[in-house]
Amino acid sequence: MSLAGKRIVVSAGPTYEDIDPVRFLGNRSSGKMGFAIAEQAACRGAEVLLVAGPVSLTTPAGVKRVDVRSAAQMHAAVMAALPADIYIGAAAVADFTPHEVATQKLKKTPGSAQMTLTLVRTRDILAEVAASDLRPDCVVGFAAETDDIERYALGKLTAKGVDMICANQVGRADGGFESEHNALTVYWPGGSVNLARAAKREIAAQLLNLLETRL
Ligand code: C5P
Repeated sequence: MSLAGKRIVVSAGPTYEDIDPVRFLGNRSSGKMGFAIAEQAACRGAEVLLVAGPVSLTTPAGVKRVDVRSAAQMHAAVMAALPADIYIGAAAVADFTPHEVATQKLKKTPGSAQMTLTLVRTRDILAEVAASDLRPDCVVGFAAETDDIERYALGKLTAKGVDMICANQVGRADGGFESEHNALTVYWPGGSVNLARAAKREIAAQLLNLLETRL
């Protein structure tokens, strides 16, 4: 199947979870993988909506972009973007967010060496898209793991009810979050393929080739 004319929603980048007016919890996602996927999908004639966390990357040509900051905002933007033919969740969404956002800058308590921040779980956007009444025909997630990649990736495939999981090893200098390059192992029910280390644009193209053959 060609991606021409298909409506594709891609999420990319980190989320920032505010603690107080000057601090937040974030992560090291650069957004480059999701932006490369959005760019390559648009090149193939897809109608692409890119839901971007806080990153300073240029919007790829032909891509419609919605900027968000927090996991809750990303959830709202992605759900509002349905229906779609394909959802690719490449964002590194925070799993936890502060229970309360302080309206004033938190101060150091004199004499206290510790402070406790209560965090609550965020909503799992990928799992909710996959369980939605408006479920896209194809739902693709990412798994950034530091260890035991295959076991966690296969677990996510079933736990989140998605059609494909793209697993990458993070914490390595030659690929993953902040790199221009990446290597992925893509899993689907009953199969997998390795996409060898290459520029993220090239990995994105190979991933979309795979989607086209499997749709
Ligand atoms: O469970 P884990 O966070 O490792 O799964 C990663 C995948 O789930 C990614 O595709 C990510 O975009 C998605 N995710 C999400 N909402 C969350 C957490 C993760 O959509 N709250």
